[in-house]
Amino acid sequence: MAPLVGAVDAGTSSVRFILFEAETTNAVASHQIELRKIFPQEGWVEQSPIEILHAVYECIDKTIEKLQDNNGQIKDIVAIGVTNQRESTIVWDKTTGEPLHNSIVWLDMRTATTIDQLLDTVPNKTRNKNYLKPLCGLPLSPYFSGVKLKWLYDNDFKIKRAMDSGGCLFGTVDTWIIWNLTGGVEGGVHVTDVSNASRTMLMNIESLKWDPVLIKFFDIPQSVLPMIKSSSEVYGMICEGALKGVPVSGCVGDQQSALIGQQCLSPGQAKATYGTGCFLLYNTGHVKVDSMHGLLTTVAYQLGSKTPPVYALEGSVAIAGAAFGWLRDNLNILPSYSDAQGVAEQAQTLEEGNVYFVPAFSGLYAPYWQQDARGVICGITEDTQSSHIVRATLDAVCFQVRDVIEAMNKDYGSKLQTLQVDGGMTANSLLMQLQADLTGISVIKPNMSESTALGAAMVAGAAVGVWNLSNKLDLGVETWLPKFTENERDIRYYKWKEAIERSLGWEN
Ligand code: G3P
Repeated sequence: MAPLVGAVDAGTSSVRFILFEAETTNAVASHQIELRKIFPQEGWVEQSPIEILHAVYECIDKTIEKLQDNNGQIKDIVAIGVTNQRESTIVWDKTTGEPLHNSIVWLDMRTATTIDQLLDTVPNKTRNKNYLKPLCGLPLSPYFSGVKLKWLYDNDFKIKRAMDSGGCLFGTVDTWIIWNLTGGVEGGVHVTDVSNASRTMLMNIESLKWDPVLIKFFDIPQSVLPMIKSSSEVYGMICEGALKGVPVSGCVGDQQSALIGQQCLSPGQAKATYGTGCFLLYNTGHVKVDSMHGLLTTVAYQLGSKTPPVYALEGSVAIAGAAFGWLRDNLNILPSYSDAQGVAEQAQTLEEGNVYFVPAFSGLYAPYWQQDARGVICGITEDTQSSHIVRATLDAVCFQVRDVIEAMNKDYGSKLQTLQVDGGMTANSLLMQLQADLTGISVIKPNMSESTALGAAMVAGAAVGVWNLSNKLDLGVETWLPKFTENERDIRYYKWKEAIERSLGWEN
């Protein structure tokens, strides 16, 4: 049997572990566990770091049972990669390994006031949210992990004391998992990779090191930060359980991992992953492109400590799949996401809905970066039915993607011709057709749907010499071509922009 490489994919909604045969996309066994979100206050989103960890252990154990049930052998597993929801922030006691707080999830908005205070400290009183962008590639936003760490430092005295005395460690979800898998308090390695570190606002986007100017700006002790490593190298060995002694040799943020899994390894290729949010990454090669149109400059990956990093432009959309959770749980108009296509198709057979929904539940991310934007639904009449709202939610995902593609085309100076897609929502073929119709470009989906986990397996396998990333994988694809006329597309997009204006203007 070919060597096996495992990928821990610790996302916002679930944790999964998948074993891939090296150099193929053949997934031989997997297990998935849903994760809870905790909402202590309006706008606050937390998760339990212990629950995340237990889900990782259980997924590994159950996957190995399935492997053995199919006559596979543990000894064939040669490496493990970790990919993760990014920006979510965890601090824990260095000597007991106990978390000092729940994970503050990337979507959490509690740091809006922290951003307000930080903007006051920007020199010359400009309150320029792009002040740090030349150093870290990111605008000041509640989204990023350094801002969440600052909130913990400023608002929780126990954490401040632990951080000041060197008694605690900070990490994003990758760091937390790797530290625990490699020994925890018994010598676990405290590391992150360049792709995750590039989402903290604390790493210099060119030197790939923690930047003293950024650390001073946020005023937090550097001793809590992990070592920054490449995305593909041996960080340490798993210290117990069935995988004891297997190297952990891949680490990459989930959106960057999907870029790798989709084989967007050349400049000019882009992918969109539709999950809780929707994230578009555009590979810009070894060139760091500074966005003038509201995109983030981020590290895509670095394949070994001696190779130069590959950069990407990213358009992050906070709310995509999460909007369907809201339709289901808060409005009770949708039994589950898998019903969205059927319900939205009823809207097509009714009178034209003309409803527009901007789901700005966490403000608006790219390309607007407006933390006080609010959700709006426009165009409702007495004929509006719930199916129109469901259809408007599908449209909203596609329009948000179009907003990002428009910005990418301007920043990169050429028009994106095709969009590669992945993530749970892509099972909805109406959504995929709408995406092609509303952007005017073809949408391509690989038949292998686990691009995120695959990317982590690829970098982990490459680090131990069992996966050659220059070998092109034959993933097999499904394609959707645009059917709308240019005019139809533009009229609808114009109305979307009107709805965006209302969302942005709500607080003013
Ligand atoms: O930046 C947040 C992103 O990494 C979350 O991804 O797939 O967990 O929604 P996902």
